[in-house]
Amino acid sequence: MPLSVDAAFHDAFQRFQTASIDTARLDARLLLGAVLGGGAERVLAESGRDLSAVEASIFEGFVKRRAGLEPISQILGVREFWSLSFKVTSATLTPRPDTETLIEAALARVKEQPKRILDLGTGSGCIVLSLLSEWKTTRGLGVDISDDALNVALHNAQKLGFDDRAEFKIADWRDGNWQHGRFDVVVSNPPYIPEADMQDLDADVRVFEPRTALVGGADGLDAYREIIAQLPQMLTPKGLVLFEVGIGQADDVEALLLSAGFRGLEQYPDLSGIARVVAGLYF
Ligand SMILES: C[S@@+](CC[C@H](N)C(=O)[O-])C[C@H]1O[C@@H](n2cnc3c(N)ncnc32)[C@H](O)[C@@H]1O
Repeated sequence: MPLSVDAAFHDAFQRFQTASIDTARLDARLLLGAVLGGGAERVLAESGRDLSAVEASIFEGFVKRRAGLEPISQILGVREFWSLSFKVTSATLTPRPDTETLIEAALARVKEQPKRILDLGTGSGCIVLSLLSEWKTTRGLGVDISDDALNVALHNAQKLGFDDRAEFKIADWRDGNWQHGRFDVVVSNPPYIPEADMQDLDADVRVFEPRTALVGGADGLDAYREIIAQLPQMLTPKGLVLFEVGIGQADDVEALLLSAGFRGLEQYPDLSGIARVVAGLYF
């Protein structure tokens, strides 16, 4: 029997509610809208018709995955960030709106287009590629410990048309033998969740997003310590570092930078007024 768009929506909505998904209505709309070839608005626009057999089967696959708590971004394989579309997979952290604060802070703080920028822990490449979309002559390097993430970042660079200015390399920022030259600006959104807080995360993050993108040791600050120790090899004199930080970590990261000799320290809030970015100059 044919399944109407309306019936498909209500069935998915109920199954998501049963799975205790807070965003059950929105998620049902987003997934059904994608099957209908657009965004959530397609559900209302096409509510009068039946799904084809192929559409019904694709939608059922989506609904099963979401009811199993897989994130929408991984089911659809894309996420918008800084008004650009990024491919995401289970190897990449899904770009977060909070991270747009890092882009805003970099644009506010850097007055002239930098020659070279470095993104440590690039994941999908969302930070470096968004900055290259604003700084039209800048060249960017994204590094990550995950080869699978780097393949996604490279795909995003090619799709967005920045592959002539963006490079991606596998590297571990803990490796003292930094061989990629110096950069005017280093940006990083490193893993910063304290180990003990992992159990409190929603299942769609805890189970489906890569652990190496999330956990920052016992106090969440391990990656900042590791990166700050290597920054003297990475930054040009008076080069700028900008870190995204977790809630409540800004003062600690600022103190780490201060004791490593960084000056001109500044914190930048997100839209809720929470300090989300710490920046400092290397002398
Ligand atoms: C929080 S995610 C950020 C991803 C992306 N930049 C974003 O903002 O959406 C942190 C990234 O750091 C990478 N990473 C973790 N430890 C690393 C290390 N020691 N060296 C290089 N990259 C690392 C992870 O693979 C992950 O992609």
